[in-house]
Amino acid sequence: MSFKRPEHKAPPELFYNDEEARKYTQNSRMIDIQVQMSERAIELLLLSEKRPYYILDLGCGSGLSGSVLEEQGHNWVGLDISSSMLFVAKEREVEGDLLLADLGNGLPFRPGSFDGAISISTLQWLCNADKSCHNPVKRLYAFFSSLFACLTRTARAVFQFYPENSEQIELITSQAMKAGFFGGLVVDYPNSTKAKKYFLVLMTGGNMPLPKALSDGEEHASHVQFTNRREKYKNLKGKCVKKSKNWILEKKERRKRQGKNVRPNTKFTGRPRSGRF
Ligand SMILES: C[S@@+](CC[C@H](N)C(=O)[O-])C[C@H]1O[C@@H](n2cnc3c(N)ncnc32)[C@H](O)[C@@H]1O
Repeated sequence: MSFKRPEHKAPPELFYNDEEARKYTQNSRMIDIQVQMSERAIELLLLSEKRPYYILDLGCGSGLSGSVLEEQGHNWVGLDISSSMLFVAKEREVEGDLLLADLGNGLPFRPGSFDGAISISTLQWLCNADKSCHNPVKRLYAFFSSLFACLTRTARAVFQFYPENSEQIELITSQAMKAGFFGGLVVDYPNSTKAKKYFLVLMTGGNMPLPKALSDGEEHASHVQFTNRREKYKNLKGKCVKKSKNWILEKKERRKRQGKNVRPNTKFTGRPRSGRF
């Protein structure tokens, strides 16, 4: 485990204390990076019309990302677990409504309330178990399913995040898919150690092509689209869906070839059960 990563040093509500929160008003490099990533996340939302949208900022912190939303004419609501960060946002006199909340507990909004969501440098925190009662799989699912519910059916949610490894990407995307989202990863500047940025682009209303990743000259921009379970089955060309009639027949044939005792096939073999007792 690397102790260089903030999420391994302390839980977020402790790590983002008054001292850390101050950096978001004083460290110009940090501010520039946050603003740039927020602009890119909003671009990836692909908001089609020139009008104000109602956007969630998940892990809104000091309100830098919220200010970018404001500059572009949008209304926003921000959630964060750190009171020190939210205090800085209040000092900044942001226009968005601020809520002290742990994303891992799910979002407390009515269905279909928001046109989109952005999140900057927050998602990787949900992969940690900071308390004995924390289960990252359950927390990610609670988060994504409540997010799916409170977005409109044509909305996108864009997360810039810092995955620690490929298992973490798999953990996050699998829970997002399970919650009903389509989408995938857009990796900007994939060959640059410094500029490389991961954006998880989630969609509520079906599988659309992902926006192009940014790249420098020779680099090959990269994106990885994932499909949800139903789509995956549609694409299983030539392979049998598990527990389907063909899958059972193939399995029985295989076991016969292995010399195992196999019951003869009847008209009931592989028939879906009615579910009645
Ligand atoms: C890098 S900061 C984001 C900064 C923010 N975009 C801004 O403009 O200041 C990451 C934020 O994620 C928040 N965070 C981490 N885990 C969280 C959780 N489980 N629930 C809510 N917020 C969380 C932290 O408190 C922190 O403010």
